[in-house]
Amino acid sequence: MPATGVDRILVTPERINAAASELNLFERPAGGERAILIHLDQGETNPEDALDELESLALSAGAEVVARLVSKRARPDPRSYVGRGRVEEIQVMVSSGLADLVLVNHALSPSQERNLEGVVGCRVLDRTELILDIFAQRARSHEGKLQVELAQLRHVASRLVRGWSHLERQKGGIGGRGPGETQLEMDRRMLGVRIRQLEKRLVKVQRQREQGRQARRKRGVPTVSLVGYTNAGKSTLFNRLTQASVYADDRLFATLDTTLRRLSLEGRDSVVLADTVGFIRELPHQLVAAFRSTLEEAAESQLLLHVIDATDPQRDESIAEVEQVLADIDASDLPRLRVYNKVDLTGRGPRVFVDAETGVREVWLSAHSGDGVELLLAELHRLLGRERVHGTIRLRPDEGRLRSRLFEYGKVLGEEAGECGELLLEVDIRRMDLERLCDTEDLTRRVEPVRA
Ligand code: GTP
Repeated sequence: MPATGVDRILVTPERINAAASELNLFERPAGGERAILIHLDQGETNPEDALDELESLALSAGAEVVARLVSKRARPDPRSYVGRGRVEEIQVMVSSGLADLVLVNHALSPSQERNLEGVVGCRVLDRTELILDIFAQRARSHEGKLQVELAQLRHVASRLVRGWSHLERQKGGIGGRGPGETQLEMDRRMLGVRIRQLEKRLVKVQRQREQGRQARRKRGVPTVSLVGYTNAGKSTLFNRLTQASVYADDRLFATLDTTLRRLSLEGRDSVVLADTVGFIRELPHQLVAAFRSTLEEAAESQLLLHVIDATDPQRDESIAEVEQVLADIDASDLPRLRVYNKVDLTGRGPRVFVDAETGVREVWLSAHSGDGVELLLAELHRLLGRERVHGTIRLRPDEGRLRSRLFEYGKVLGEEAGECGELLLEVDIRRMDLERLCDTEDLTRRVEPVRA
């Protein structure tokens, strides 16, 4: 429906904000902080692991967990998702004053959420809303805040499409809508206006950020990005390395924005160290764009420090997931170091380890105590320093791409054919560039010193 003249005047950003926040709360019971967690066990994942992860999210949001429930069902109940037995149990806990919030470890439809809230008598949040809430608390930069607001409004807008039929009724009072327009239409239109405003602002902020990156590129300042699963200790390591006071907390997502600091390394000018938002399993799709855009910075780094919690029982799955996202943002061929953090909890000391098969280097340290940080600094120095490698590298016939990249990044001083069809290339190249050329093996190990 076209906007009337009155609408055009009344639809101010403040009114849209007010309406959007009112919508979020509209006719929903209040929520507290004493939470019941519930997971639906359909036989796919270990329910205790799933509940552990939900509990971490709940603690991150500032909730106190009073009960953990599992509902074993082949498929979700269409009305309440978790089934009548569990609903009754929750109802008793809420009415006795034990709990005032229910956190469901899945995506609920708007009607399931409403039905559940109606029966149990307190606020029910699904997984998406819980993570949105944490992100909203954590966003610090202008861009992060815009991204979170956008994700929240899109979430609200998607829930207006079906199910929120109680919003259909006419709302009286001061204008703000055309004749005959229902509350639902007006809400949808106002949300649409605000979403477009946010999208425009975001484009502007991203352009500014890109300009900053270009300026750094021009000045030749390399960027090192810390990436990794949430709670791995990125911010703690970032602080340790830069002595900067970035917010670090034993809650998930302590960082939602890429934070940049200058790091001075011995023997070279300086590098920019970037802390990034932590990865999380099953990120709600509304947040994927926000999350990825904060990682764009990482995709342009000279080096990635993949921080891993050495004590995480799901360590290998977390590593694989991080690798997958890095591939998705075209960052998989950047040189990287794996930093296994929290060695103080493993009973073993700090060390550097080189995987014999892949040549991937690992530094085991404790960001918290600082033990092993000097090993990491030495690795950074080795990788980012001006050190050059001079020698002969033997290329197989199928390595034509590598040959052209060696020409691109370094000086090729000689080229001759070997006895078995291979090529012998004499190169003089910066170590950091050599490391960059191949992420699956350490090329420096294939460089033989030039014979006198
Ligand atoms: P997000 O911002 O959520 O992505 O987390 P992060 O990876 O930046 O983790 P952060 O630095 O906030 O650390 C998470 C928790 O782990 C905090 O309680 C830290 O004190 C703790 N931590 C970090 N490094 C170490 C360490 O070396 N040893 C121990 N024992 N704890 C650590």
